[in-house]
Amino acid sequence: MVQQSESKHGMWSSRLMFIFAAAGSAVGLGNIWRFPYLAGENGGGAFVLAYLACIALIGLPILISEILLGRAGRQSPINAMVQLADVSKVSRNWQVIGWMGALAGFMILSFYAVIAGWAMAYVLEMMSGRFVGVDPAQAAASFETFISDPAQVVAWQTGFMILTIAIAARGVGRGLEVTVRYLMPALFFLLVALVIYSGVTSGRFVDGLAFLFQPDFERFDSSSLITAMGQAFFTLSLGMGAIMAYGAYMPKGSSIVGTAATIAVLDTSVALMSGLVIFPLVFANGLESSAGPGLMFITLPIAFGQMTGGQVFGTAFFVLVSFAAITSSISLLEPAVAWVVEKTSLGRVKAASLVGGVAWLLGLGSALSFNLGADWTLPNGFNFFDTMDYVSNNILLPLGGILIAVFAGWRLSGETLQEQMQEDQGALILWRFLTRYLAPVGVLIVFIVTIF
Ligand code: PHE
Repeated sequence: MVQQSESKHGMWSSRLMFIFAAAGSAVGLGNIWRFPYLAGENGGGAFVLAYLACIALIGLPILISEILLGRAGRQSPINAMVQLADVSKVSRNWQVIGWMGALAGFMILSFYAVIAGWAMAYVLEMMSGRFVGVDPAQAAASFETFISDPAQVVAWQTGFMILTIAIAARGVGRGLEVTVRYLMPALFFLLVALVIYSGVTSGRFVDGLAFLFQPDFERFDSSSLITAMGQAFFTLSLGMGAIMAYGAYMPKGSSIVGTAATIAVLDTSVALMSGLVIFPLVFANGLESSAGPGLMFITLPIAFGQMTGGQVFGTAFFVLVSFAAITSSISLLEPAVAWVVEKTSLGRVKAASLVGGVAWLLGLGSALSFNLGADWTLPNGFNFFDTMDYVSNNILLPLGGILIAVFAGWRLSGETLQEQMQEDQGALILWRFLTRYLAPVGVLIVFIVTIF
């Protein structure tokens, strides 16, 4: 197949901008909010170890596969899969990868906007100075009061979604790229400053480090294993086509393996650094590391409230979280937006509004899970938010990942593969082994261990 050199949706202006965009997608609430609380709930170091193994052995080969398939197809994941299936002379049913991905994208974006809304609300809360000198009970009460007010939570969720739609509507070059070009470097510097600040003011940097790297297998069980794997997919934005969609806009002529490795290293460092901001503060203030989704919102305000400069740094922290969330949410929207643009006569503005609107509607269920709908639970106690999170991250993403690995490793035409991996001949054999065998089998084993 002679590859198209451009996508009709636009292109990243350079390889670096692709790295910014993909790292922008990867780095998000998953790193700053979700990773620390999951590590806290699942025994710290043991969880981190499983997570790192999943990133290197399963995540990285699939990340490479998604970029490769996206760049070869140059369209929305659904249409790219149709085209690649044709070129490779295999069944068009492989487009299910695109459809399942779109479904997972809707589910993730729906609750993502709710949590991102909390983070935006906390920018103002921190700025207001109301946390100066609070004790743990007051901070917890504050958070409870906030999330129990459906009007506030929905208002912030709506605001965040409108922002996401507005950026997506402006398109790849003027919307997505402009956003990541400024926010990604800002985020990185802010995070480094916060690690230093947290370590110095709490004096507990080493305890944070120990918590993250000394395995405690007591709190780690088989459900921790699937959680670690789900988190690896979630944090790298894998298994749902986000990276495939971004890969479609990547210029030709640069190494995919090197690019993917850079993205994975950036993403993992941000997760670990977030842990190094949060845990020293948690330990210095005698807080509970296993506080769950509220960890960031309860413990950090207490810690910032007691430290010099806490009001400024606390505000900066939640600005950082909001930035990170927005550069991820635009990538959750992109696969479906690109597909609507390709399939209909709607332009990007209408397509983004439509797709974002549906995700917003679904998100109301998660917004209400913490207040009016707290009792709408499944027999296992999961509320709407828990269900969306579990099904998308622990089931749909890994399943999508298996299919992507099998397609890229076994089914994709050799010619297309060679064309995309021209710059990566040295790594081809290792990638192929990991993608054909280790990644799909690894995911299956985790599924099986979890079920039994
Ligand atoms: N990777 C993002 C995060 O860590 C979330 C995400 C998942 C984005 C899937 C796109 C696709 O916050």
